[in-house]
Amino acid sequence: MEARIAENINSELVVQRLLGIEQTPFAIFFAEKLKSNVKSFKEATRLLKLPVNIYFAFKCCPIIPIVECILKNGIDGLEVHSNWELEQSVKLTTKNLLHGCGKSKADLHRAVALGSLVILDGLDEAKDFAALENPGQYGCRLMPEVKSNFLGSSPSKLGMSATEIRSFILDMQRQHKQKPAVLHVHIFQQYRDANLLNELFAPIMELWNDESSSFSVLNIGGGFCSDIDSANLFQIMARWRQLIEQLKGIQQVWMEPGRALTGSACSVFSRVLRIKYQNGVQIVVVDAGTNLLVPIPNSSFKVKPVNSANRQLVQSMVVDGTCSPSSIINHDCNLPALQEGELIEINDSGAYTFSFCNPLFHTPLPTLLFASESGLVSTLWTKDFTSSISTSLMCANS
Ligand SMILES: Cc1ncc(COP(=O)(O)O)c(C=O)c1O
Repeated sequence: MEARIAENINSELVVQRLLGIEQTPFAIFFAEKLKSNVKSFKEATRLLKLPVNIYFAFKCCPIIPIVECILKNGIDGLEVHSNWELEQSVKLTTKNLLHGCGKSKADLHRAVALGSLVILDGLDEAKDFAALENPGQYGCRLMPEVKSNFLGSSPSKLGMSATEIRSFILDMQRQHKQKPAVLHVHIFQQYRDANLLNELFAPIMELWNDESSSFSVLNIGGGFCSDIDSANLFQIMARWRQLIEQLKGIQQVWMEPGRALTGSACSVFSRVLRIKYQNGVQIVVVDAGTNLLVPIPNSSFKVKPVNSANRQLVQSMVVDGTCSPSSIINHDCNLPALQEGELIEINDSGAYTFSFCNPLFHTPLPTLLFASESGLVSTLWTKDFTSSISTSLMCANS
């Protein structure tokens, strides 16, 4: 279904019209916002004063029209985690990076055949890569050697130690006369903790400036805030600039943002089913489900009422109707005292939602719409779709 809502209207008007015709919950991506996110991100990267290549983290939002829109607006390529993602990705761009720990020999072979640059996320796959007849250019992922529990639950086990990378590079030079192109580091909370960034940078610098390494590209991965319009992103880039200046002969920086590009470009519109109060906190039960709005670390879904009248705010919690321990969409937000039947907007719904969603829940997944810059609204999926993009496939290799 395609409907021209109107010529050249802004996203607010698109929403007003849709509220009259679409059943809740429905989700909508705005091309306008994707474009401005890409623009802001690229502007912030200028602070690095080096050429920057940006690879969108495909698993964050593997919806083809959305990915096409991002690429069209100037993102260089895609970062993928599985064969399925790679097969999709090569149809969209010639610049692909393959991640995913535990890549098999066949995965590596296929990636090289498809012209993808492989980032070696572990020692076993690195050995298999070295055994290929013609391994292409490659990157090494450095395991962060810090005690900080920076992933929230447990420290990362992904990557190789600096010692492993050093000896692997020497082997590759001996066997294939091949030097590595990329040193990959991934710092999920880079936007939260400046000290952590400094702490993590020490081993990066040591490895980089080692005689045997000769890297030319530093890939700093994803993990950027989704609140891209805030000064935060500029601060992060400024911090990286100070660190990167210390790397000998660096020619390029690569980044793999996911949530920063698509998170805020999507909103779910949902109806309030019930209001309850518990210890003075307003509990708002809505018809959108956590089968789509899956809580992930370092992100929160931003809720606001569609009725913008000025009302006094109360501490609130927004939940779906399942009453399960994981049914919380937003834990702690300030909302006006809402009415049953009222409409709310849940923003920041464009990252790790349609890729992590669970279609088996009794709450139906929302219809997914896409609003082009000119106000043309198309339906990407209707409520009864079964998730052909579920990450169960992708996780098998990530
Ligand atoms: C290797 C890699 N790159 C990029 C990303 C994107 O991260 P974010 O969405 O936080 O920017 C991820 C996310 O898990 C990842 O594992």
